[in-house]
Amino acid sequence: MVQFKTLLGSAAALALSATASPLPFQDGAKAVYFQTNKSPNQIAAVAVHSSGKLGKYTFHPTGGKGGAEVSATGPNAPDALGSQHSVVVYGDYLFTVNAGSNDVSLFSIACENPTDLKLVGTYPVNGGFPNTVAVKGDHVCVGYAGSPSGVSCAEWSPLGVGKFDTIREFDLHQSNPPNASLILVSDAVFVEDESRLLVTARGSAESPGFVATYDVDWAGQVSGKGEISTPAGLNASFGAVPIPRTQLAFVAEPEVGGYILDVASPSKPIATVTVPGQKAICWSALTHKSVTGIFPDAGTNTITQVEIPCGRVIQQWNSTNGNSGQLDFSIDATDKFFALAFSPKDSQARVASINLSGNNFTDIDNKVIAGTDMNSQGFAIYP
Ligand SMILES: *[C@@H]1O[C@H](CO)[C@@H](O)[C@H](O)[C@H]1NC(C)=O
Ligand SMILES: *[C@@H]1O[C@H](CO)[C@@H](O)[C@H](O)[C@H]1NC(C)=O
Ligand SMILES: *[C@@H]1O[C@H](CO)[C@@H](O)[C@H](O)[C@H]1NC(C)=O
Ligand SMILES: *[C@@H]1O[C@H](CO)[C@@H](O)[C@H](O)[C@H]1NC(C)=O
Ligand SMILES: *[C@@H]1O[C@H](CO)[C@@H](O)[C@H](O)[C@H]1NC(C)=O
Repeated sequence: MVQFKTLLGSAAALALSATASPLPFQDGAKAVYFQTNKSPNQIAAVAVHSSGKLGKYTFHPTGGKGGAEVSATGPNAPDALGSQHSVVVYGDYLFTVNAGSNDVSLFSIACENPTDLKLVGTYPVNGGFPNTVAVKGDHVCVGYAGSPSGVSCAEWSPLGVGKFDTIREFDLHQSNPPNASLILVSDAVFVEDESRLLVTARGSAESPGFVATYDVDWAGQVSGKGEISTPAGLNASFGAVPIPRTQLAFVAEPEVGGYILDVASPSKPIATVTVPGQKAICWSALTHKSVTGIFPDAGTNTITQVEIPCGRVIQQWNSTNGNSGQLDFSIDATDKFFALAFSPKDSQARVASINLSGNNFTDIDNKVIAGTDMNSQGFAIYP
């Protein structure tokens, strides 16, 4: 009995430590992660030195299968999932979706050696083609671009992920795998001190995209009913990140560049950011030392920096790392930027690192990750 109590106590303490807020975010990244998004799916974990140079890497099976949306010419790649946040680090844990097997995987990260991942488990979801994950406290929500489309949430702890609740379904007439020419769910994130869940869907020629917002109660429960709006003039809401200590999100929109959304008032953007020369701005991020918006471009090797919250373009900078553009990415607490990228030279994934600290951005490294291809997707950093 005593033993049982001790066990219970330590499990509860463990649960508490994982679901409390993550450690203070001050140090530079020690590892970066993306999914190979193949079948079987794996997480590539790449070590990062304090200089921002990239080190050794290892692969970790997720227990699930990757997937790809279908375009007019066949499986869509790169950007096979058409999403941001398909791989997410939360505290010492990593979540990934497996779009081809309709499940999510949970890993624990060894803090002293963060390329060392341990699979906790692989858990079924109840939508089609999961392509994005949002985590807050002991709740995890997953967005679905296939059939059914929508978002559902579950509780999680270091011991695993529970059963997903009833899907908040969108009537998008999608299929599995999804048709990339039609409207697609692209991102799910918690905004406004985590008291709202934001889901974006980018539109098609037939139907404009939208943003869906859901209230989150004091216990972390996400409301079953959301508000759906199309911010005026913006049909293609894609990757979004919350702007700290505000109810705003910085959103990529590959028709104009991007915009700033007030999640409490989503029908009209706070500011629309028209990015000169943009080809495919699909993901967004923020610098941390002073908060500015960062829009790399999947179609050109240009990084656009944006003033928050007015939306003015501060500068555009071209990388000379030879990539075709930068795909999914994250920025660490010291403002080093890390991206999944591809080059016109071959189909292997690269991890690029760029110093965004100060006004003069500089390339740091660009490393080929052998054994990967253009299905690779998602990007997260630790810490
Ligand atoms: C990044 O740039 C800043 C400003 O130029 C510089 O102080 C810092 O040392 C650089 N960091 C790295 C890791 O290169
Ligand atoms: C995807 O949708 C487009 C537009 O409706 C349609 O022309 C195309 O045939 C669809 N592709 C597939 C693979 O169903
Ligand atoms: C949004 O879609 C509507 C019709 O669905 C179209 O009239 C409008 O030009 C589109 N706006 C943008 C910015 O693409
Ligand atoms: C960046 O490169 C593009 C061509 O890809 C060019 O049009 C633009 O002028 C360059 N911008 C800067 C700031 O060098
Ligand atoms: C930033 O770059 C400009 C132009 O390349 C140069 O004149 C300036 O000295 C640089 N500033 C710093 C702090 O390195």
